[in-house]
Amino acid sequence: RSIKSLATSPSSHILRRGYASEAVPDRKVAVLGAAGGIGQPLALLMKLNPLVSSLALYDIANTPGVAADVGHINTRSEVSGYSGEAELGKALEGADVVIIPAGVPRKPGMTRDDLFNINAGIVKGLCQAIAKYCPHALVNMISNPVNSTVPIAAEVFKKAGTYDPKRLFGVTTLDVVRAKTFYAGKAKVPVAEVNVPVVGGHAGITILPLFSQATPKANLSDAEITALTKRTQDGGTEVVEAKAGKGSATLSMAYAGAIFADACLKGLNGAPDVVECSYVQSTITELPFFASKVRLGKNGVEEVLGLGPLSDYEKEGLEKLKPELQSSIEKGIKFANQ
Ligand code: NAI
Repeated sequence: RSIKSLATSPSSHILRRGYASEAVPDRKVAVLGAAGGIGQPLALLMKLNPLVSSLALYDIANTPGVAADVGHINTRSEVSGYSGEAELGKALEGADVVIIPAGVPRKPGMTRDDLFNINAGIVKGLCQAIAKYCPHALVNMISNPVNSTVPIAAEVFKKAGTYDPKRLFGVTTLDVVRAKTFYAGKAKVPVAEVNVPVVGGHAGITILPLFSQATPKANLSDAEITALTKRTQDGGTEVVEAKAGKGSATLSMAYAGAIFADACLKGLNGAPDVVECSYVQSTITELPFFASKVRLGKNGVEEVLGLGPLSDYEKEGLEKLKPELQSSIEKGIKFANQ
C-alpha cells in the first residue's frame, strides 16, 4: 500500500522518526468546520503531518475551495472536500480521528458559555453523525464551550450505544501552549524546553495552570505566578479583544489542535510515552469530566494521570473551579437529553 511508496520518497526519513517499526499506517483525519477561521489553518497543518494518509475537510459551505487549495500541497495525504450535510457521512466514513472546530466564536464581551445556544446544537448533530459513520474514531472537540460540548458528545454517543470514554477528548492544548509561552517569557527560559500542565476545564477560572510543576524550574514570586495564571485564564479574551469583533484565536488554536491530533495519531500508531493534557471523562476529582495529563495509546486514552503535588494557591484554584465546571457539565448533559 502507500507504505511502500513512502519508503522510497525523499522525505521518508521524517516519517520514520521516533518509531521502532518502519511502517506508517494509513490514517484518515476528518476536520468538521474546515472552512472556518480555525478549520483552514488546521487543515493546512494536518496536510503537513506525515502520519495522515487521508484528509477529509467538511463544512456546511466553502469547503471545495479550501480542499482544492490545500490539496495542491505535495505531502503524503489525499485531500477531499465535503460540503453540506448530505456529504457528512462520506467525510466521516473510515476516519481514525475527527477534529471539530465547527461553530461560532466569541466576540468582545462574550463568555464561552454565551456560545452554548448555537454550538450545542451543531455539536449534537455532528456527534450523531460520528456515532453513525465512524463510531470508533477519536473525537477532538474544539468547539466551545468545551466544558459543555464534551459532555454533550458523551450523551449523544451513549444514546447511540457507541460511547467509549477513551475516545472522546476536549482540546485544551491551547491553554498549555499559552501557559508555556507566558511562563518562558517571565522565567526567561527557552520556550521550547518548557513544560506546564494545565488542568480543570477550558473557560476562565476553570483553566488551572500548574506553574508549581513547570520545568525548567524558575524562582517566580507569588505575584508573578498569580499574574501568569490570570493571563493564561484570560488568554482567549486577550485575542478576542485584539481582534475586536473579528473572532477569537484561530492561528494559535490551529497550531494547538494540530499538536493534539498528532499526539492522538502517534498514540494510535503505538508510539510510546505520548502524554498531553486533555479534558476527558475522569475520576481524579469528583467531577465526571476534567482536564489533566493523559497518556495516549492505541485505543485513545491509555491512562488519565493524576494531578501531582499542588501548591496552596493551586489547591485553592482547584476548589474554586469545581462548582463552575460542574454546572457547565450539567448544562451539557441536560441539553443533550432534552
Ligand atoms: P469560524 O466562524 O471562523 O468557523 C467556524 C466554521 O464552522 C465555519 O466555517 C462554519 O461554516 C462552520 N460550521 C458551522 N456550523 C457547522 C456545522 N453544522 N457543521 C460543520 N461546520 C459548521 O469560527 P472559529 O474561529 O474557527 O471557531 C470555531 C470554534 O472553535 C468556536 O466555537 C470557538 O469558540 C472554538 N474555539 C476553541 C478553542 C479551544 O481552545 N478549544 C480556541 C478558539 C476557538
